[in-house]
Amino acid sequence: MREVPVHIGFIMDGNGRWAKKRLLPRTAGHLAGLKALKKVALGCIEEGVGYITLYCFSTENWKRPKDEVDYLMGLFSEKLMGEMPFFNEHGIRLLALGDMSVLPPEARAALMAAIEATEDNTAITAQLAINYGGQSEICQAVERAVAQGITKFTPEVIRAHFDNPEVPPCDVIARSAGERRLSNFLLFDSAYAEFMFYDKLWPDWCEDDVRTVIDEYNTRVRRFGGLA
Ligand code: FPP
Repeated sequence: MREVPVHIGFIMDGNGRWAKKRLLPRTAGHLAGLKALKKVALGCIEEGVGYITLYCFSTENWKRPKDEVDYLMGLFSEKLMGEMPFFNEHGIRLLALGDMSVLPPEARAALMAAIEATEDNTAITAQLAINYGGQSEICQAVERAVAQGITKFTPEVIRAHFDNPEVPPCDVIARSAGERRLSNFLLFDSAYAEFMFYDKLWPDWCEDDVRTVIDEYNTRVRRFGGLA
């Protein structure tokens, strides 16, 4: 029987290279990346994936040129709101993952509004990882637990203090655009994830690429440290 992963994390890489190949500004690559994100979300819904996490902006991405950072923040505020009919039509519930406190107020407000506007959607849950870093996520969870007087730590205690503890650990991490690294994405929750790397640049991804990921998932034998 074909297994469908419950949760897929996508490292959406290659937007800049996609734009460069077309002699376009890098920002055009991010806009095309948003279009690809929508197709991939639809592919995941068709396949019955329950949760996706999309790496939209890392804690390290602030190092990029100001105009690129501003453009991405604009995408999270204006474009995200413009996509509300899409998210609601397809039953996509949005969640934010990462430290929203330092985002420009418009981007933070738009994200909060988008989360509220989609909270009753049930087809799929999409975590938007924005100003997200896996190391910071673990540190923040520990700080939250300590603030509650917790001194004994287990993996479950740490997970319980994540932004969205109801989102299950990741079954698959899929990365576009050729690099084979995790780049501080879902460090804790990828403990038993299957890693998949593809050369295709993110803006070229569509529904069929989700099927490719799930086909590859079905060739893997997951043992979780036990025996097959
Ligand atoms: C990595 O490609 C991509 C990003 C840093 C941004 C990803 C963001 C989106 C797809 C838009 C999401 C929008 C909303 C509203 C949720 P890169 O720029 O590092 O590509 P390169 O490696 O080719 O330079």
